[in-house]
Amino acid sequence: MESVSALFVLTILIASLLASLHFLCRKPSIIGRFRSPKLPLPPGTLGWPYVGETLQLYSQNPNIFFASKQKRYGSIYKTHILGCPCVMISSPEAVRSVLVTRANLFKPTFPASKERMLGKQAIFFNQGDYHAKLRKLVLRAFSPESLKNNFFSHIDFIASSTLESLLRGQTSSINTFKEMKSYTFNVALLSIFGREEFKYRDHLKRCYYILEQGYNSMPINLPGTLFHKAMKARKELAAIVAQTISVRRNQLSMINDNDPTDLLASFMGDAEGLTDNQIADNVIGVIFAARDTTASVITWVFKFLADNPAVLQAVTVIIYHVLFTF
Ligand code: HEM
Repeated sequence: MESVSALFVLTILIASLLASLHFLCRKPSIIGRFRSPKLPLPPGTLGWPYVGETLQLYSQNPNIFFASKQKRYGSIYKTHILGCPCVMISSPEAVRSVLVTRANLFKPTFPASKERMLGKQAIFFNQGDYHAKLRKLVLRAFSPESLKNNFFSHIDFIASSTLESLLRGQTSSINTFKEMKSYTFNVALLSIFGREEFKYRDHLKRCYYILEQGYNSMPINLPGTLFHKAMKARKELAAIVAQTISVRRNQLSMINDNDPTDLLASFMGDAEGLTDNQIADNVIGVIFAARDTTASVITWVFKFLADNPAVLQAVTVIIYHVLFTF
């Protein structure tokens, strides 16, 4: 019922928004400020004013939306989604140009709704000194030395428990990506919050799953929408991190500027002077950065090893060698 009324309010809102934009478009003096004459833009359509093609994107599988555009316009085309006019690129040459050869012309930005959801002070959304400081703190917590001293044996434990629980499970098939997401979540929580029993683990996971479901939803913050639920979950996540920080401050021993035992300790180092909100945004940001990316790579590794038994055999030999000489 809640979602039906939300949908109704949403429809009214969009209808009135479109009506006012339609009115504005008829007034050249107002809309003229937003139009640039004859920009050499790639092919494609920008859709409706303000909403662009966001509704088309969300009314079908996003992969189909992008694939049909690519088929029609090629590997570089324009569109307008989530409130941003965009140029979508998918050819290796264009990607190289943006990320490498002409990288100086580009600046990483995210749609405002994504920034709000992850937290504006997360590393991804910043540049300059603040960005450099965060980068240093993240790298310090994930240096090979720190991983070896603080996490290796525990990651090993998480890996074997995951395998054991999969073997114990009675299901006839296993969804590797789903299982790897659960595994990488546990490793992320270990590396952020450390080996101590993390009291709020289940609550944090529940909130993060809700956040995740709303991350790619239509950014309309009305009761009942996935976006609204995700924003609420995000607030709860920040509260959990704040609570953990406060418990840590009382313990003090886990915060050592020179040799932090986990990412939270690295962020909380006295010399860094990060606020609790900055720490929360970056903790949530690192979970986001680390989880699906790593789970997806591990899933592909499994697939390629299963497809190539000779490589699997060679990798197994190397792993045994490393294990017994480490
Ligand atoms: C195979 C797995 C991973 C892939 C494919 C991946 C991919 C990426 C990409 C493409 C970027 C953007 C780089 C840029 O804007 O220049 C990025 C940034 C980042 N990733 Fe990953 N990532 C992975 C794993 C991880 C893990 C495990 C962590 C945990 C610490 C992590 C933390 C970050 C952070 C903090 C940034 C922001 C860096 C910055 O702005 O300086 N990533 N990652």
